[in-house]
Amino acid sequence: MKVDCYYACEIDHEAICVSKVRFPAEVKHVGDVTEITDKMLAEWGPFDLVIGGSPCNDLSIVNTTRKGIWSDKGSGKLFFEFVRILHSCQLLSASCNKPLFWLFENVVYMDRSSKQTISHFLQKSPVVLDAKYVSPAHRPRCFWGNLPGMNRPMVASGHHRLNLQECLEPGRCAQTQKLRTITANLNSVSKRCVISGGNKEVSVLNSAVVLHPGNQLDTLWITEIERVFGFPDHYTDVRNMARAARLRVLGKAWSVPVIKHLFAPLKDFFSCSD
Ligand SMILES: C[S@@+](CC[C@H](N)C(=O)[O-])C[C@H]1O[C@@H](n2cnc3c(N)ncnc32)[C@H](O)[C@@H]1O
Repeated sequence: MKVDCYYACEIDHEAICVSKVRFPAEVKHVGDVTEITDKMLAEWGPFDLVIGGSPCNDLSIVNTTRKGIWSDKGSGKLFFEFVRILHSCQLLSASCNKPLFWLFENVVYMDRSSKQTISHFLQKSPVVLDAKYVSPAHRPRCFWGNLPGMNRPMVASGHHRLNLQECLEPGRCAQTQKLRTITANLNSVSKRCVISGGNKEVSVLNSAVVLHPGNQLDTLWITEIERVFGFPDHYTDVRNMARAARLRVLGKAWSVPVIKHLFAPLKDFFSCSD
């Protein structure tokens, strides 16, 4: 779809850096979401689409010290910024008689009461989509929204890369077909595996998922991880960004084929590039 203007609330300098290099004209960076006022929205809007994925660290059950959605001290409460901004944008669109599409994303594995709170405030039940059906990595995510057809099944086609092997550089051999969910944690690109050595088995924690020529175990290269997410090669290779920083940015990203699936019906509503 053609994008006239995209206002992005983000405070992560590395993510902003990738976005600025890849979309220098379309994306306007407006910083901290908590500082966006109704007046700003009225100046920028009305909008066609509002999307967001608030931080999951304080919601995910993987984090045993999570602070939950209501705590003043955690990032879980940023969900309510999405609600605030969505409501303001809905009023703006209604006053111009325009439709407004919206989408909110977060992890599947959060405690039941946080998920209920999100569904309550958004007045929708989530659709669960897992990138494993259209990519080589597990990434189950909840999506709340009003996009047409977002409940339809997500079906892989010939152009999807479904196995890790399809994302690797020549000569490298995948030790697994599907990766675990990739997060901003460096260890998440590895897989717990057991290597047989003589008559004893050595359990290798967070070892490599790729066999490099010469039978050496190796971790994934960033270009390969970009392919796993559906990004073009070298997408995050901007301004000499280090490997760990590129991985951090990718670990927070949405899976491109999943987002394509969700947004595809919007092509009937907006003009598209060739
Ligand atoms: C789970 S990630 C979602 C990223 C997004 N779904 C994407 O794919 O581009 C949550 C993001 O919220 C950002 N964030 C945290 N606090 C913020 C704030 N106060 N204002 C704007 N963004 C914030 C983080 O830097 C992080 O990139």
